[in-house]
Amino acid sequence: MAAHYQIVGSSSAAISASVESGIRGGQLAPGDALPAVRALATELAVSPATVAKAYQELRHRGLVVTAGRHGTRVRPRPPVAARRAGRMPPPLPGTRNLSAGQPDSRLLPPLGPHLAALAAEIGSPTGYVSSAVLPELAEATRARLAADGVPAEEIAVTGGALDGIERLLAANLRPGDAVAVEDPGWANLLDLVAALGLRPIGVPVDDDGPTEPGVRSALAAGARALIVTSRAQNPTGAAVSAERAEALRALLAGRSDLLLIEDDHAAELAHVPLHPLAGVTPTWAFVRSVSKPYGPDLRLAVLTGDEATVARVAGRARVGAGWVSTVLQRLVLALWRDPATADLVRRAAESYDRRRDGLREALAARGVAAYGRTGINLWVPVADETVVVTTLRDAGWSVAPGTLNRIAAGPGVRITVSSLDEADLAPLADAVARALRPVASAGFTA
Ligand SMILES: Cc1ncc(COP(=O)(O)O)c(C=O)c1O
Repeated sequence: MAAHYQIVGSSSAAISASVESGIRGGQLAPGDALPAVRALATELAVSPATVAKAYQELRHRGLVVTAGRHGTRVRPRPPVAARRAGRMPPPLPGTRNLSAGQPDSRLLPPLGPHLAALAAEIGSPTGYVSSAVLPELAEATRARLAADGVPAEEIAVTGGALDGIERLLAANLRPGDAVAVEDPGWANLLDLVAALGLRPIGVPVDDDGPTEPGVRSALAAGARALIVTSRAQNPTGAAVSAERAEALRALLAGRSDLLLIEDDHAAELAHVPLHPLAGVTPTWAFVRSVSKPYGPDLRLAVLTGDEATVARVAGRARVGAGWVSTVLQRLVLALWRDPATADLVRRAAESYDRRRDGLREALAARGVAAYGRTGINLWVPVADETVVVTTLRDAGWSVAPGTLNRIAAGPGVRITVSSLDEADLAPLADAVARALRPVASAGFTA
């Protein structure tokens, strides 16, 4: 839809500020088209180069996207807080929300007892800390990652996996650089890549992770970084298999022009063995979040990698935010050390497996193919996302359209299984099967 917002300004800075203000104020909504460069230049009595520069600046900051003959449009989720909500409509009241990609809060370990124990342990208030990483947490991280085959020596702590990835990309790449990302992939990562002014190159994914030919062609296209989700890939549930890891390790071995980032966001919840690529390139990082097994609100991830890469992340954090609160670091350590919590996480992982596999099998029994080897989501390829999302919504189920997850991948919908109960599986599978094969309207015969 073309926007009816009046862009003003006689310099590129003023024009881009005017567009940004329109996005902030909600007059320019996600998906709205901006005027063609020449048309706006004539209207504002400036040169086309001035408007083109303004649009380029907005593109580098991830506020707009230019897509060939579709012209320049506001990105689905631009990185400025708007007063109007983004394109994704909130789930309709009365529908079951399977669109959020969140763990089931009923299965997250309770924090109360650990916070109470910490209150007694911490005692007097802590001032500015001398070490950004609690030594005990660093030690526990090394042991946990080594047990999974990740050679962890240097450790940094970040405010979640995405914060770690942002710091890695910002410290190593420049606007305009290309980044290879999974396609379909995690929408927030695509938003971040755009906000940093980086160019995403999509790498196809199958059940075993990013495909070898896909990574090969991303490298040939000049990717400076590659981001791989180790397990519970969002949205397809892929997990890097032993065979795929071996093929990718052979392909990447020794590449000194590439930053390799692995995102193990599901960690203990993934319930399949980790097959890391860590260390195969000279510049690498492995990020493990605590969000999925222990709770997204802990906002903490541990990060390891080669010495120079970890030093860049830690050094940049030191001159900025400083460190992740040692209160949170102690809390994560307490959760890691607690056998009852480990048991809860194991049971949660089993429960997600049952729901995900149960729904996938129920769909297969109805002739619907769905992907999801690990994690909390199923990805269902569909012909038309809008039709399927609205048909399911009318049947009482809110699922996420895959449009925010895709670059060149085909359409699909993401179903988060975390809140499903056994009794939901058959009716949901029936509804999905119906939504994929809409019944011809009454009155028409073949
Ligand atoms: C692939 C992927 N990485 C990371 C995260 C979240 O990590 P964090 O909460 O640590 O930023 C998610 C959350 O859904 C995800 O899907």
